[in-house]
Amino acid sequence: MKLLAISGSLRRDSHNTKLLRAAEELVPAVMEFQVWDGLKAIPPYDEEDDIDPAPPAVAAFRNAIAEADAILISTPEYNSSIPGQLKNAIDWASRPLATNVLRNKPVAVIGASTGAFGAVWSQAELRKVLGATGARVVDADVALGHAHTKFSEDGELLDEAARDQLAEVVVTLLAETPAPQFANANLLGEQVRKAGSIAGNVVAA
Ligand code: FNR
Repeated sequence: MKLLAISGSLRRDSHNTKLLRAAEELVPAVMEFQVWDGLKAIPPYDEEDDIDPAPPAVAAFRNAIAEADAILISTPEYNSSIPGQLKNAIDWASRPLATNVLRNKPVAVIGASTGAFGAVWSQAELRKVLGATGARVVDADVALGHAHTKFSEDGELLDEAARDQLAEVVVTLLAETPAPQFANANLLGEQVRKAGSIAGNVVAA
């Protein structure tokens, strides 16, 4: 069982990557959690390069998506929309459209920004784009505004309400995976929320 986490930001100290790491603490141990770090290597989409075999970075990205049972994307907001590198990667993943690796894949979208609204516009854009690929976008979100004030120096998420929302996102996403152990959303919710409060106690200590 694998959850692929994709940060739309390339920078090392990214708040969106930290938000994914906070989600990792909530995911049950039976689930492998992989943060995708190959986004920067993906070339600009060119239909002439979209042949078999695909460019290696694209093939690796498509394989990672194909092997994942669910996907969690955290996106920054750049000028009210998704960063170009994230849109570019999704464009590659979306081809060929009828059989693309995102089709029917459960995907959750969350986001962080240093502004007040927590990348709500870019999250909406990303859900629209993912919908066009045929991904199963789940109805749950986290919009972490003022993100530069919301993490400890160790990268712990300090905002309790955001941690609760993150737990709901994880529960909603995993309930959409084919794994029978995640089908009971109530039991799963208990487990994930417990992980959230343990993380919260560690932060508070
Ligand atoms: C931004 N930022 C930003 N924030 C926001 O709330 N709305 C916006 O439209 C934009 N636009 C924007 C454009 C560009 C080119 C940059 C570089 C930044 C600020 C953004 O939220 C901030 O840099 C986040 O920290 C980016 O996320 P990571 O890299 O921390 O994950």
